[in-house]
Amino acid sequence: MAKLPSFVCQSCGAAHSKWSGRCDACGAWNSIVEETPLSAGPPSKSLGTKRGRGMALTDLSRDEPPPPRTTSGIAELDRVLGGGLVPASAVLVGGDPGIGKSTLLLQAAASFATQGLGCIYVSGEEASAQIRMRAQRLGLGQAQVRLAAETNLREILTTLEAEKPQLAIIDSIQTMWSDGVDSAPGSVAQVRAAAHELTTFAKRHGIAVVLVGHVTKEGQIAGPRVVEHMVDTVLYFEGERGHQFRILRAVKNRFGPADEIGVFEMTGGGLAEVANPSALFLGDRETPQPGAAVFAGIEGSRPVLCEFQALVAPTPHSQPRRQTVGWDGGRLAMILAVLEARCAIPFSGLDVYLNVAGGLRVREPAADLAVAAALLSAREDIALPAQSVVFGEISLSGQLRPAGQTENRLKEAAKLGFSTAIAPAQSKAPSSEGMAMRHYSDLAALVGDIFGAG
Ligand code: TYD
Ligand code: MG
Repeated sequence: MAKLPSFVCQSCGAAHSKWSGRCDACGAWNSIVEETPLSAGPPSKSLGTKRGRGMALTDLSRDEPPPPRTTSGIAELDRVLGGGLVPASAVLVGGDPGIGKSTLLLQAAASFATQGLGCIYVSGEEASAQIRMRAQRLGLGQAQVRLAAETNLREILTTLEAEKPQLAIIDSIQTMWSDGVDSAPGSVAQVRAAAHELTTFAKRHGIAVVLVGHVTKEGQIAGPRVVEHMVDTVLYFEGERGHQFRILRAVKNRFGPADEIGVFEMTGGGLAEVANPSALFLGDRETPQPGAAVFAGIEGSRPVLCEFQALVAPTPHSQPRRQTVGWDGGRLAMILAVLEARCAIPFSGLDVYLNVAGGLRVREPAADLAVAAALLSAREDIALPAQSVVFGEISLSGQLRPAGQTENRLKEAAKLGFSTAIAPAQSKAPSSEGMAMRHYSDLAALVGDIFGAG
């Protein structure tokens, strides 16, 4: 029998027969660690001779009622879950250490408990006394949530089976260990085994299981893809250190739309819901400033306005700096290249800094035009028209492509007191919601009209 591979990449889970400095499968460096395989498994020839019981097949056409859901009463959380918690489902909540995952889930557990769900909160990181103290600080001291500090999966599953709660929270998956696996807690083999046992347990016993996962500094949950595949829903809890705003984002949801966000604010009394995120991300804006552009964006099903801020300054270095917060650096490079190649506006010899105010991370391509407008405005030192919002995608040719949901964007902008929209020529909406529309078919036309150049 071939020797079983025992070196596993901690980033992608690929198995290798020997150690090497770089994983061939995903290209990560220094990620390969020796692990004992889960089990050797049955010899493959037994599959050929031993027959199984067979599967029960059904038709597609059978009417399936929508899954029953329990809402927590925390509207921002329920929306991200797709309308509430589905029984017998597995949810992964990922995020940087210290971002507020334990706080959010303790508050969620308390809310679900007030809706009548039996909740068990298992912590492998904190002692029960610590969690009780936090609950008291959050004003949740009387909530009907039962606690345990445990890391041994066998003990946890036995207790859950006996107690039959409707919701179990496991904080965190990286601290759990299964005695059937020889590797250290936190290794891919342990995380994979623990996540697998917990998700199959959830399905079999009709318990909703929420797993907390820490994100590595590369932005992935340790043993990342393996866990993301197994669960029904993957939520990321994001935010910038130093900002009190936190965003819960659905990146995968088998029971609802992905890309939905919930916005929270970290206060002394825990996480508070933010019902109107646009107002929060815009903050106090009085006179129009050069370098600022308000983007009318869509996050999931709802419009969110946020401000892009750019600073362009002569560089003392031979290599100019390109720094972004809340926006992809590669996408910034592309927009700078389009400005240079299609509009003859060079940025060489200039440092460029680009921020999204408030700690939001924007991924929508429709923000391209807001980024370009902020960059141009900073470079030319000319403010954009007062009370204007910007949206539209930029193609490599410098053409502007329309973004979806134009009417929703305009409606939100009008609601927040904006009066002008700078948008691609084809983005027509049945109603402009009382906004003055400034349509451009390409970036050069916008440059000529607003900045008198190009
Ligand atoms: P925590 O939920 O422990 O983070 P995670 O589980 O993601 O590691 O949150 C810890 C941070 O939240 C800590 O820096 C303090 C802050 N915090 C508040 O600001 N207010 C609060 O009411 C609580 C409970 C925590
Ligand atoms: Mg925690």
